[in-house]
Amino acid sequence: MSLIQQYRFVNLILIVLITIGLSISLQFPALAINSNNGADIFEIHCASCHPNGNNIIRRGKNLKLRTLRRRKLDSVEAIAELVTQGKNNMSAYNDRLSPQEIQAVSAYVLQQAENNWHK
Ligand code: HEC
Repeated sequence: MSLIQQYRFVNLILIVLITIGLSISLQFPALAINSNNGADIFEIHCASCHPNGNNIIRRGKNLKLRTLRRRKLDSVEAIAELVTQGKNNMSAYNDRLSPQEIQAVSAYVLQQAENNWHK
């Protein structure tokens, strides 16, 4: 290989490496969102009082679809607002969870309610 060929070869490798690096860094935000998904957040912050969508403190105030509907809590926005502000014996989560995390866990609650909390 001549010197100029070697130079071109190194250049080519650099371009390939930069392309790979770029595509990895572009995918990284997606990975970050997946790692704090609604199911994980629910297990950590909610399942102690709401195992399988129940409510161990106020049994009637569970996370079943019929109950949520009756209280007009059958939308991600309504659940997110309750979680953000808290209610009676349930504390507010705006100091522990980011708006995105509250959004994710609320979407998970609604989705589980629609699936009747079948895992
Ligand atoms: C310390 C126990 C506790 C934890 C932890 C908790 N909750 Fe609650 N949750 C309650 C209680 C008590 C109520 C009833 C509030 C009321 O008086 O209306 C409630 C009510 C709710 C409701 C309304 C249900 C209804 O039928 O009115 C939703 C939705 C809800 N919680 C979601 C969550 C989510 C999501 C989390 C986690 C981010 C969470 N909760 C964490 C105790 C808890």
